[in-house]
Amino acid sequence: MSQIRGRFNKSADKSVQEYTQSIDFDFRLGAVDILASIAHAKMLAKQGIISRKEMKQIVGGLESIAEEIEQDKFDFKPELEDIHMNIEARLIEKIGDVGRKLHTARSRNDQVATDMRLFLMGAILITISAIRELENAIIEIAGKHLNTVIPGYTHLQRAQPVLLAHHLLAYFEMLERDINRFWDCMDRTSILPLGSGALAGVAYQIDREFVAKELGFDEVSQNSIDAVSDRDFILEYEFAAALCMMHLSRLSEEVILWSSAEFDFIELDDAFTTGSSIMPQKKNPDVAELARGKTGRVYGNLVALLTTMKGLPLAYNRDMQEDKEGLFDSIGTLLSTLDVFTGMLKSLHVKTDKTESVAKQGYMLATDIADYLAKKGEPFRSAHEKTGKLVRYAIEKDKALNQLTIKEYQKFSSLFDKDVYNITVASSIAARDHIGGTAKSQVAKQIARAEEILKDYYAEESKG
Ligand code: ARG
Repeated sequence: MSQIRGRFNKSADKSVQEYTQSIDFDFRLGAVDILASIAHAKMLAKQGIISRKEMKQIVGGLESIAEEIEQDKFDFKPELEDIHMNIEARLIEKIGDVGRKLHTARSRNDQVATDMRLFLMGAILITISAIRELENAIIEIAGKHLNTVIPGYTHLQRAQPVLLAHHLLAYFEMLERDINRFWDCMDRTSILPLGSGALAGVAYQIDREFVAKELGFDEVSQNSIDAVSDRDFILEYEFAAALCMMHLSRLSEEVILWSSAEFDFIELDDAFTTGSSIMPQKKNPDVAELARGKTGRVYGNLVALLTTMKGLPLAYNRDMQEDKEGLFDSIGTLLSTLDVFTGMLKSLHVKTDKTESVAKQGYMLATDIADYLAKKGEPFRSAHEKTGKLVRYAIEKDKALNQLTIKEYQKFSSLFDKDVYNITVASSIAARDHIGGTAKSQVAKQIARAEEILKDYYAEESKG
């Protein structure tokens, strides 16, 4: 068997073979294709569609092909188009005509959909575990910086002092949402399409639930036409990956800014930076820049497949073969980014003296002064206005707020008293003492909660 050419008088033109082949990238489906075929063969035997003896030969053949693939001994042939035909042809080569029975009650359309789902189910688990590793790194650094104060920003202008741990834990929250999205994607990926045939179902008494159980799918698909046409699960992964990359890209941007001389908040470990070919003094944050850059291609993969799918009539169309490279690329890009990020974060050094001194500058306690007046009875809007005037006055006098005399304060409101000097960076942070606030005790609770989440995850993991 070389190609499916029964109906034709000629073999396909070389250019067509080259254009249509997918083995160059779908070779990655080899292991899952074999798993699915083994489950299919077992089902065929259980249902009396093939004999037990035939099933055993087929399963034995498939297992030895799996070994060949694993040991890099399998010869992938482009003229055999795709991974499915490559494996089937090798099976027939190995066990003879009985191998031709494997494709009973099956089409490549339900086969490829099954393979993609099985492959993605594995990839989702690996993705979640890589995100957990990064979360771990974030918690670790946050734990070390429960006393480190940095300026918090809005509009990239210094806004209010916050704990560095609090800032970093914002990324933990994003990553938690990412993980939930991947689990959610799992729910809709773990549905078995096999048994849908080309599109209408198959004319055999098959047992789809048996196959689902063998392969670890949660359920079986309910409409054969949808089952072979659906690539939503791939799009969902690509969207979840795009969003996760967006989060990493925002963190990248902060790493890049913070390691610049202008900010000078952090220093990246030498192992996670690169030099310049011309400027000997340079230490560039290329990892973060590339993560920011690669976010673009992960978005691109999502938009490419959305576009591919939008005009397709039901059911299978060959256009859908284009689902693969983008997905593989998004998975690979996300995993490598998560991995290198974990190392980069764990090894970076925070210049706490610098962050501390900057956190004291720039009138970042103005909100606390307005709050001070509001707590003494001034309506907040007018307290805000009076404090605004006070800040303008201080800027004109080139003084920090705590350098103003009480007389100067009182020019702006008679409510000011000596206790206004109790407003400090530390008091500002300590005052935000509620769920989600930056007070140390609250941030410690965030860390404890995050640690608990990770502990539960790893406990589940070790149970298998
Ligand atoms: N290589 C094909 C794909 O990835 C497999 C399905 C082929 N089905 C077909 N009817 N030609 O989509």
